[in-house]
Amino acid sequence: MDGDEVIGHTFSTTGEYLHDQITVVLRKGREVAKGDLIYVLHPKRRRPVVYQVVRVYPHRRVREYEEFLLKEGRIVPDWEDSTIHVEAYQWGWLDDLGRLRALRYPLPPNTPVYKAGREVVARFTKPEGEWRILLGTDLSCGLEVELDLHHLIRQSCLICGSVGTGKTTTAITMVCRAASLEPPVRFFIVDKDGEYGSLLERFGPGEAVRVPWIRFFKPSDIGYEDFLAEFGWQRNWWTSKVLRRALRMLRSSGELLTKRNLIRVLQFVEGEDLGFRKKGEELEDYKRQVANAVAYSRLIPDDDVEALDPVELLRRHRIVIMDLSQGRDTWSQKHVVIAQVLKRIFTEALEDQGFGCVILLEEAMYYAPQRGLFEVGSAESRVRLLSVVKEIATNGGRNGVGLWIVTQRLATVEKTVVTQCANNIVCHALEDLDKRRLGEIVGENFVDLLGELPPGEAIVKGTALKCRFPLWVKVIPELYPSSATTTPLKRFMEMAQAMDREEQKPLTIT
Ligand SMILES: Nc1ncnc2c1ncn2[C@@H]1O[C@H](COP(=O)(O)OP(=O)(O)O)[C@@H](O)[C@H]1O
Ligand SMILES: [Mg+2]
Repeated sequence: MDGDEVIGHTFSTTGEYLHDQITVVLRKGREVAKGDLIYVLHPKRRRPVVYQVVRVYPHRRVREYEEFLLKEGRIVPDWEDSTIHVEAYQWGWLDDLGRLRALRYPLPPNTPVYKAGREVVARFTKPEGEWRILLGTDLSCGLEVELDLHHLIRQSCLICGSVGTGKTTTAITMVCRAASLEPPVRFFIVDKDGEYGSLLERFGPGEAVRVPWIRFFKPSDIGYEDFLAEFGWQRNWWTSKVLRRALRMLRSSGELLTKRNLIRVLQFVEGEDLGFRKKGEELEDYKRQVANAVAYSRLIPDDDVEALDPVELLRRHRIVIMDLSQGRDTWSQKHVVIAQVLKRIFTEALEDQGFGCVILLEEAMYYAPQRGLFEVGSAESRVRLLSVVKEIATNGGRNGVGLWIVTQRLATVEKTVVTQCANNIVCHALEDLDKRRLGEIVGENFVDLLGELPPGEAIVKGTALKCRFPLWVKVIPELYPSSATTTPLKRFMEMAQAMDREEQKPLTIT
């Protein structure tokens, strides 16, 4: 506070001085920018009442002849004649217990206004706990902005921004710092494109593992419905009925679900048990179709493979990455496996108070899509996974399972999930449509600040800061995503060079 300079005085063009929103006339030579924090002294308590700047613009007396001069190309470069107006809205002041309060007393007209220095900004933004991570620096005063992990787990986190704005860098940086704390936060990362590999190099094999998604697959958990979805069969088809019967027989025999075992029990399926009245040959035909489908199924393992347990892995590593980038299998199968894994993690956290983790979903629309707006996989697989993700978004935090979602398109992610995670937001530049969506969730003051942000800069708001007001932060990266090994430019350069190397003989196409 001491040493903070007076940058101007409150002013009103109408003569009325309200205090939830103030206009300041800037003093000559002073500077202030959108997003900065400024304050006035509380009229009774002499403490800073903080405001955040939302608009800065020059104001000049209207001159009738100016328009005419401009037409002639004559400009009057007369700054002397104009003033800078600053509009700001109130955050409030902190009482003895450190609680934020709104100013209730009137401010006298032309009250002096100070630029908030590091001390004041820190008092209003620094979380109190020790278990916190650095995010970046506040652009107005260079103060380090830190986030409280307790809240990032308890109330989840949303990291958003359009393509190339720095979302993944921010997410990976937050993971890296949180997993380095004492005690380290554990992470289960669902990595769609293999971008989180750089964490493996940083933490080494003892602390971080990457597992191909199929290694988590537990066939015994897979039900009849999943197979119908995989094969694209209707429930009332004979093939479905045969399959169902065979699965039941296998289960009651206590044998493991493998292709070989399932095909073997198929021959014991009897037409009478199914109410099948036609000739035996036709039933054999259906059985053959089922055997064929089973043989090519991706859900049913060939042999008895031991599925990895995500909970075991999380107990032994700080970071577990479920890699979805390998294999050409379809999304409906990935959905089934992710749902299994997340359910297993959440159930364990419900049962064991000594277990917890943060689940990070990169490109959340693949796992929690808004109905009708984004569709991969099958309707069944989507619904099943969505219900698990929703459950974790609503009840995970209080049971030690935080959810961090990263997304470029807010509108395509299911509403409840976005709203739950939006208790903490790190928002990079957004498209207009998504800005509007975000405005509905967190308010217009936040969206006003967004404007155009360069990559790596973000507006941050949430319970993980001391006061729930937006801050403008330059994210300091700790680690970068393992991006694709090549860029489009490189590919085309290589093709051009390859052509130069080859003799220019024309290709004969036969
Ligand atoms: N905080 C940052 N500071 C500097 N450069 C950054 C920062 N965040 C991202 N970048 C750069 O911006 C580009 C896009 O980052 P990335 O995290 O992949 O974006 P997104 O995941 O939103 O598509 C990368 O080249 C990265 O190096
Ligand atoms: Mg990314």
